[in-house]
Amino acid sequence: MNCGKSLDWPLMRNNIGRSDLKAVIDYLKKEVPILTQSRQVEEFEREWSQWLGVHHSVLVNSGSSANLLTLSTLREIYGMGEIIVPTLTWVSDIASALQCGFTPVFVDIDRRTLGMDTDQVLDKINGNTRAVFLTHILGFNALNQSFLDELGARQVPLIEDACESYGATFNGRKLGTFGLMSNFSFYYAHHMSTIEGGMISTNDGELYEMLRMFRSHGMSREANSESLKRAYVKKHPDLNPDFIFAFPAFNMRSTEINAVIGREQLKRLDTNNEIRRENFNLFLQNLDPAKYQTDFETAGSCNYAFPLILKRPDPLLCENVMRALREHGVEFRRGTSGGGNQLRQPYLRKVMGEREFEKYPKVNHVHFYGFYVGNYPDLEKEKILKLCSILNRLPEEEDSRV
Ligand SMILES: Cc1ncc(COP(=O)(O)O)c(C=O)c1O
Repeated sequence: MNCGKSLDWPLMRNNIGRSDLKAVIDYLKKEVPILTQSRQVEEFEREWSQWLGVHHSVLVNSGSSANLLTLSTLREIYGMGEIIVPTLTWVSDIASALQCGFTPVFVDIDRRTLGMDTDQVLDKINGNTRAVFLTHILGFNALNQSFLDELGARQVPLIEDACESYGATFNGRKLGTFGLMSNFSFYYAHHMSTIEGGMISTNDGELYEMLRMFRSHGMSREANSESLKRAYVKKHPDLNPDFIFAFPAFNMRSTEINAVIGREQLKRLDTNNEIRRENFNLFLQNLDPAKYQTDFETAGSCNYAFPLILKRPDPLLCENVMRALREHGVEFRRGTSGGGNQLRQPYLRKVMGEREFEKYPKVNHVHFYGFYVGNYPDLEKEKILKLCSILNRLPEEEDSRV
């Protein structure tokens, strides 16, 4: 291993491997393989539901599609209103709320989970709140029991975005099993990949049927339930049963190829996640807690990236970190998930005002002084130790500790 000049450390490596490609090639060698959504998609959904511990899952073509489909069905059932969203998340979480006509209501982050500050969420719930759309950031659990109890008592639906956090748990139960619906992404940089892809999981049978129809043009024949399909046909005798469009919806279907890769990937997800946990512990244990935040809430976490957040707002250390990472060939993203405070982004300033971002100091710290670097199963332990020692030696501003 060459740890001298370059650590050669991308955000992700080998997330689609030879066995995945072999599975695709074997599938393509079938006499007449079906490539549009069919049996492989169904099998992947069934296996995913089993792995996660839910009744139903619906495969779509990206995590962003999962976000949009989820909020579209939510609006269909609960109507328009407010939706409480994080300041630190991926753009599609907020964009989907806007696209569905919801009013986004923002909260700051909890420094130790990087998820929403759950007290602030509870403070912002009112009679017009339709849901809390929470993101589990970079593999950390953002839930706590009193928060779940309070949401239950107030009958406010929770939607979990676990696109960055599958395999992580709260109280021994997988994230993505607590909300009314949950979202996952199979983009290349995540815990597993189907090239592109996303999943929506739920225990709610009615929503499941609706999600299936919304995924495919809103067509009633896409429902799973025969009686539901018959009911649509009976109610609309003037329509061809093949073309009953129950909702104004989308085409967000996956192909069979993505599903073949997903099924193969799922076989090694738990093993890979164990390695990620070991790597992450090694990283946190060796990072200087005087310079960098190490007191994350790690119970149940499962991180495909190492969050690197400066303890204090120190511009000199921040510059030194970026220079060192570049010099040593370590790919990084500044601002962590989605680039930091979404409220600073042009698309949201137009909606929420030019200065709204100032109200959220904790996410602003992460925006400027937070980074992440990749944590993938192939990552050598020596590289982790080497990187920590490089980071720990970096000069900081003299007065930044006072
Ligand atoms: C929290 C979160 N939600 C949604 C998405 C969107 O997923 P995709 O890239 O598959 O569209 C991402 C993507 O990185 C994400 O991190």
